[in-house]
Amino acid sequence: MGHLVIAVDGPAGAGKSTVAKRLAKRLGLGFMDTGAMYRALTLKALRRGTKLEDAEALVALAHETAIDLVDEAGRPLKVLLDGEDVSDAIRTPEVTNNTFYIARTPGVRAVMVEWQRRMGEKQSLVGDGRDLGTVVFPNAAFKFYLDADFDVRCQRRIDELRAKGVAVDEAALKRDLAERDHADFTRKVGPLKKAEDAIIIDSTNMTIDEVVEALVQHIHKQK
Ligand code: DC
Repeated sequence: MGHLVIAVDGPAGAGKSTVAKRLAKRLGLGFMDTGAMYRALTLKALRRGTKLEDAEALVALAHETAIDLVDEAGRPLKVLLDGEDVSDAIRTPEVTNNTFYIARTPGVRAVMVEWQRRMGEKQSLVGDGRDLGTVVFPNAAFKFYLDADFDVRCQRRIDELRAKGVAVDEAALKRDLAERDHADFTRKVGPLKKAEDAIIIDSTNMTIDEVVEALVQHIHKQK
């Protein structure tokens, strides 16, 4: 198919990462989880005690940080923060609930976008995030916007955590997801938005396999 970038954007809990990873495997492309990058920088800031309200300090931190995504066949994506495997450490509620500070800082987003574009130039890939079709890869060959009803997204997160044996406070989880939605939709730079040319997939009543299949169909139809 030649060099190819496929963007998958959408709100938290819509299943983007799982779908993007499976789609990448199916098409033999790389996989880039951009949320993992925002999370990794958040983890570093929390560990360092960097003031999360201090935009300048966050930008400086981004400039002295190396984040690598290692995508090995048959394994979950490995996230390296300055060489350390932080794949699990970036999934804690503390990191999840503080990532909006990093995500709302324009100077940090500029650094992230640069890293992501470089990855997209080096290899064909499927990327998932919030602003891939609108900001990072405006010329992506395919743009998908993966949506699902709020309650379904909440339930998916609850099921995911329970499957891992984590105790879940459902009310708190719903509140947190509503807050993350609000932050995602309203930030000034790189907000979550449907690209004009995005294909919208509502996965409310679909399984992961069905979503992947729908994306593959769209891609084959146009190629
Ligand atoms: O996809 P995720 O839930 O792992 O993303 C974590 C956070 O990072 C989320 O709150 C929004 C932010 N994010 C972003 O601002 N831009 C992206 N391209 C990806 C994620």
